[in-house]
Amino acid sequence: MSISTKDQRVDAWQKLVDIIESYLEQNQDPETPVVKYRSAQDLKEELELKIGEAGADSNEVFSEISKYLEYSVRTTHPQFNNQLNAGFNFNALMGEIVSFIANTSMATFEIAPVATLLENKLVEELNKSIGYENGHGIMVTGGSNANLMAIHCARNRMFPNAKHEGNPNKELCVFVSQEAHYSFQKAVSLLGLGLNNLIKVKSTVQGEMDSEDLENKIKKCIEDGKTPLLVASTAGTTVMGAFDPVAKNQEIAKKYNLWHHIDGAWGGAALFSEKLRHRIKGCEEADSFTFDAHKLLGTGLITSFFLTKDKNIIRETNSGGGGSYLFHEYENSEYDTGAYSLQCGRKVDSLKFWLTWKALGHKGLQEFVDNQVAKREHLVNLINEHPRLKMLHEPQFLNACFQVLPEEENVDINKYNFDLRFKLVKEGKYLVNFSSWEDGTVFFRHVFANNVTQKEDLNKLVDEIVSLSKTM
Ligand SMILES: Cc1ncc(COP(=O)(O)O)c(C=O)c1O
Repeated sequence: MSISTKDQRVDAWQKLVDIIESYLEQNQDPETPVVKYRSAQDLKEELELKIGEAGADSNEVFSEISKYLEYSVRTTHPQFNNQLNAGFNFNALMGEIVSFIANTSMATFEIAPVATLLENKLVEELNKSIGYENGHGIMVTGGSNANLMAIHCARNRMFPNAKHEGNPNKELCVFVSQEAHYSFQKAVSLLGLGLNNLIKVKSTVQGEMDSEDLENKIKKCIEDGKTPLLVASTAGTTVMGAFDPVAKNQEIAKKYNLWHHIDGAWGGAALFSEKLRHRIKGCEEADSFTFDAHKLLGTGLITSFFLTKDKNIIRETNSGGGGSYLFHEYENSEYDTGAYSLQCGRKVDSLKFWLTWKALGHKGLQEFVDNQVAKREHLVNLINEHPRLKMLHEPQFLNACFQVLPEEENVDINKYNFDLRFKLVKEGKYLVNFSSWEDGTVFFRHVFANNVTQKEDLNKLVDEIVSLSKTM
């Protein structure tokens, strides 16, 4: 099918809008499954994926779209609470469509004038929220890469020659809590620091880093002849939504001359909420910050930022190359973000967040976050009041980790929760994740990233889990 004329386009838009509207309407219906669960093999057979010698006609192309939607997980369904990203907001969708249609790359101001200024403005606003007065930042391909960038910049600040000469002849150590995101493992491995030099600091039962253990581990690292490089505090851990003690960690980082990074990929949204802001008190002193708007704010994957207090470090660390064909000396050279990004071609991710923030305003963003907190409080109350459910922590952010208690005695509670959660997923009505700790404890991890979910949906979820548990 070729769509090249205006009439063909208008016709195709209309068909697409009809399909999407019907999909979104189905998602409002609690009877629509969140996912039509199939094993990979069964799904492969059902989808019959093939590309013919001759191109497909328009009916076939639209039927591929319908099939995609039918078998994909409906993250805009109110009973989807599985992942740290969910749903979408319409302003972000418009931004995504428009930036796709304009199809430019962020490499230079010349080819992305408006997008460059939008990204700069978003960086400026986020830095203002953090308290960085004269900071810098860039959008990256995910929170994982923002964390990578933090270590990369930290190494460059401590060892400016590393850019040319490679890692110094020293073992550089990075400190994270045992609850920190796994992206730090990838980062230290990619930067040649080695997994053995990623030091896991103990977390408390509430999931926060134990600062005393941090200091002990830094001292041990020095005693072993190694060099402490960076400590990352997590603001909103992936599983429990816990906040590491930012101010205490900052003091320790300063004492030992370490770069202090805050991974706020998930909990960074606390910046916008007066109720939660105290959790990251002192963040303005840290060297850098990761923030993912695509997680809580529903701006669509990917909308990630690496932000730093240091005006020059991103450029110093990443600049190099491309001068003769891409980065020319001209009046706007200093606006060329490609000169200091890790990518050459880089998608415009700013417009979707820009339109979202513009439409909501600062107050709207605060209400958005606070509404999610109110829903979490509702679920936690339901759990605490139910004799068959048990909260495993006191939630600090938008995660609720709980277990279902078996009715019978002598049942392996961890296997029981694992089986029950899988049964729930196979039923297709709800999608809520599970997680486990090193001691083998298995539990449901409910996250509140989906703003479509309402309190009634949470009531139904609790009823469903408990009634399903009776069939085990
Ligand atoms: C605390 C934390 N940091 C970093 C990441 C990675 O973010 P991304 O998926 O955008 O790479 C996640 C993802 O869940 C996270 O929870």
